[in-house]
Amino acid sequence: LAIRAGAYDDELIKTAKTVASPGRGILAMDESNATCGKRLASVGLENTEANRQTYRTMLLSPPGLGNYISGAILFEETLYQSTLDGKKIVDLLIEQGIVPGIKTDKGLSPLASFNDESWCQGLDGLASRSAAYYQQGARFAKWRTVVSIPNGPSALAVKEAAWGLARYAAISQENGLVPIVEPEVALDGDHGIDSSYEVAYKVWSEVFFYLAQNNVLFEGILLKPSMVTPGSQCKERATPEQVADYTLKLLRRTVPPAVPGIHFMSGGLSELEATQNLNAMNQSPNPWHVSFSYARALQNICLKTWGGRPENVKAAQDALLLRASANSAAQLGKYTG
Ligand code: 13P
Repeated sequence: LAIRAGAYDDELIKTAKTVASPGRGILAMDESNATCGKRLASVGLENTEANRQTYRTMLLSPPGLGNYISGAILFEETLYQSTLDGKKIVDLLIEQGIVPGIKTDKGLSPLASFNDESWCQGLDGLASRSAAYYQQGARFAKWRTVVSIPNGPSALAVKEAAWGLARYAAISQENGLVPIVEPEVALDGDHGIDSSYEVAYKVWSEVFFYLAQNNVLFEGILLKPSMVTPGSQCKERATPEQVADYTLKLLRRTVPPAVPGIHFMSGGLSELEATQNLNAMNQSPNPWHVSFSYARALQNICLKTWGGRPENVKAAQDALLLRASANSAAQLGKYTG
């Protein structure tokens, strides 16, 4: 650590290790209000603050959730919210042994002059927002940027994504938040698994190049990548073993072992695929903790079982616990289906 001495370095290392602890992963529940509204609409509920609070309280309160979940990524509204019976959400998380996290990016905008590509907003004011989130109890952050294979990705879009992630990571660490670095390679398209590999190779390499240039402490970040899979419209599907082979090869070629945790997104994979692929990646020891940071692959069944009805809350929470425990087993390479 000779070349840097950030005020929060020791704490960042400790936080990252806690989130990347054996048999646990991240519950991503940081949907923007608009996206959360779509989830609520699917069970016939209006997109009101009270309904978002009800839904998110349900997600975070099952006893024992912390056995499988080490961190939860919140949207800003939730970080400052209380549960239905008046407990601060942050305190509920701490009681459950779950580290509070916060989405700090401001979403995607069209990349001017480039065909249907996007870039990620949110660097303006990020330092002061990060400091305020730390004050409120957040200890890690997330920034999601997306490159798309059918639309390129152009060299410029990859560079912009990687540079933005690196600036965000440096600013987060300066304010005590462990940055989750999330370069999503979107699943859409009919390309095969080799194209996904090639694009992800460019993206991940460039991300780590700029992280190093920005003097980011690798021991104090977490990577949230897409698994290397065929495009969602590709006729040729891949087995969990093939996904694991491609993805681990790429991790070994581009990600330093100093990075403590790799927390994959589910990215539109089914719940079962997400669990099976993760399990396949943990069949032999890895230099990093290889785990999950799923939103849809954890929440979907819970939302469906709930259906917006109070009498279903317990069954919905049991469904969430079941998915969380399956992914916990997969993190340990012990998922048996
Ligand atoms: P999914 O697991 O649904 O892909 O979501 C993860 C996430 O946080 C996307 O930013």
